[in-house]
Amino acid sequence: MLVVGITGASGSVYAERLLEHFLASGTDVALCLTPAACRVLRHELGWRVPEDPRDAAGVRAVLEQVFPPEGRVGRLVYYAPDDWGAPIASGSAVWEGMVVVPCSMGTAGRIAHGLSGNLLERAADVCLKERRPLVVVPRETPLSLIHLENLLSLARAGAVVLPAAPGFYHRPERLEDLVAFVVDRILRALGRSGGLVPPWEGGENER
Ligand SMILES: Cc1cc2nc3c(=O)[nH]c(=O)nc-3n(C[C@H](O)[C@H](O)[C@H](O)COP(=O)(O)O)c2cc1C
Repeated sequence: MLVVGITGASGSVYAERLLEHFLASGTDVALCLTPAACRVLRHELGWRVPEDPRDAAGVRAVLEQVFPPEGRVGRLVYYAPDDWGAPIASGSAVWEGMVVVPCSMGTAGRIAHGLSGNLLERAADVCLKERRPLVVVPRETPLSLIHLENLLSLARAGAVVLPAAPGFYHRPERLEDLVAFVVDRILRALGRSGGLVPPWEGGENER
């Protein structure tokens, strides 16, 4: 089981694609959202999630529509951001690791400083203290010194900092190709074979 946290940074399509992949390939997922994530999911993807992610029933109803049960092999469990009794709030519960995608600079800073103000941040904190894989996918540009120092702190604490910065050498033709590039890198960072983008095997200089 993996934890996926979605924050209010731009790029929620990366999270949607990653969740699709996990659920179709039989990985169980525990999902956390922040209030800002709900706003961005509504704006960028048209998910009709409630403004307040503490409305767990409302979020779960939308998840049933976005990820219909017949298309899932893995289980999808949603936890509200104030659900401090959730298993993922404790290091005693066993799960494989966590991806924060996309990760806002606010959440990156709070995880870097161990503030754990919501369940998403607490689950990331648990990953770091238990030495479990934590992949943080920040999205912001340009980056301030504060952002860079917070990302450095995360890397020093053991997180993989994997910016949402797709490459172009696989010659993307569609938006989905760019999304697949980043999702593939996330899967590889978790030690899984991505398979969404073929590995670079060298190429001719055609110019
Ligand atoms: C449409 C939209 C796009 C945003 N994009 C970013 C972004 O790319 N990176 C970022 O750090 N914040 C972005 N923000 C601002 C965050 O949502 C805001 O800082 C929020 O407090 C983050 O809260 P969270 O970390 O709890 O999700 C965006 C906000 C909106 C409404």
